[in-house]
Amino acid sequence: MAEPSPAAEFPAQPTAIVTGAASPRGIGRATAHRLARDGWAVAVVDLGQDASEAVAREVAEQHGVPTLGLGVDITDRDAAFAAVERVDRELPQLVGLVNNAGVSSPVPFLEVTPEEWRRVFEVNVHGTFHMTQAAAAVMASHHLGRIVNVSSVSAERGGGVYGRAAYSGAKAALLGIARTLARELGPHGITANSVAPGSIDTDIMGGTLSEARKAELVSDLLVGRIGTVDDVAAVINFLLSREGGYVTGATYDVNGGLHIA
Ligand SMILES: NC(=O)c1ccc[n+]([C@@H]2O[C@H](COP(=O)([O-])OP(=O)(O)OC[C@H]3O[C@@H](n4cnc5c(N)ncnc54)[C@H](O)[C@@H]3O)[C@@H](O)[C@H]2O)c1
Repeated sequence: MAEPSPAAEFPAQPTAIVTGAASPRGIGRATAHRLARDGWAVAVVDLGQDASEAVAREVAEQHGVPTLGLGVDITDRDAAFAAVERVDRELPQLVGLVNNAGVSSPVPFLEVTPEEWRRVFEVNVHGTFHMTQAAAAVMASHHLGRIVNVSSVSAERGGGVYGRAAYSGAKAALLGIARTLARELGPHGITANSVAPGSIDTDIMGGTLSEARKAELVSDLLVGRIGTVDDVAAVINFLLSREGGYVTGATYDVNGGLHIA
């Protein structure tokens, strides 16, 4: 391992890539807005070109920062590398990567097909690998970077509501990957962390939750309410920030106290 050395100065306007950021009620879109509010330029990466451009436009209009919307399937390695190259060319210095794109598979283990199993790992793990390898090379060239993997409480406790073995396994992989990146990329001025959201009211949980379902979930929590996308975006924003530079290899639980409830 190379000798650690302090990271370079934060640029006045850094750029972050947020994957899976075009989902209208999702964590990624909320994160794009939160970062832009603090002055970040933002690249919105998601499957659809139109949807990604629409969120990029909305973020630019609301916060007055440069943005780019890119329709990318992150499981396609060439497409992922091309996207990072474009961000590097067209936006200010790339500092942050939020690996937020994900798919769940609430299929019981005895019924899950190999295709379904592979799809969950392809998006959550391999997509993260492609995006991170491409982005980390750019970050290392500036000796400054912030990587956040969006994992899940399922990685820590086993899948419950919205994820079973494939999802939990893929999200657990993200924790190990982030910790290893913290070690390997630290000498290049790059931090790597994970957030592990609990029950957040978004589409991945099966659409808007009924009041009865919310009450059931809340009964396990210490804070007396279900999580919001803004709860998760706030933690990601901190981990990407200049002030977050002493935090690396960590997993931040954003779950309303579920573990000790
Ligand atoms: N909502 C929750 O309660 C919760 C809890 C724990 C973890 N998470 C994780 O947080 C992240 C965001 O969750 P969300 O609830 O906002 O989900 P969401 O389904 O609203 O958003 C996920 C986004 O990822 C995109 N995506 C899927 N496959 C892709 C691919 N191959 N290439 C590019 N983009 C792709 C989708 O198009 C979608 O816009 C996910 O990784 C999810 O597993 C969510």
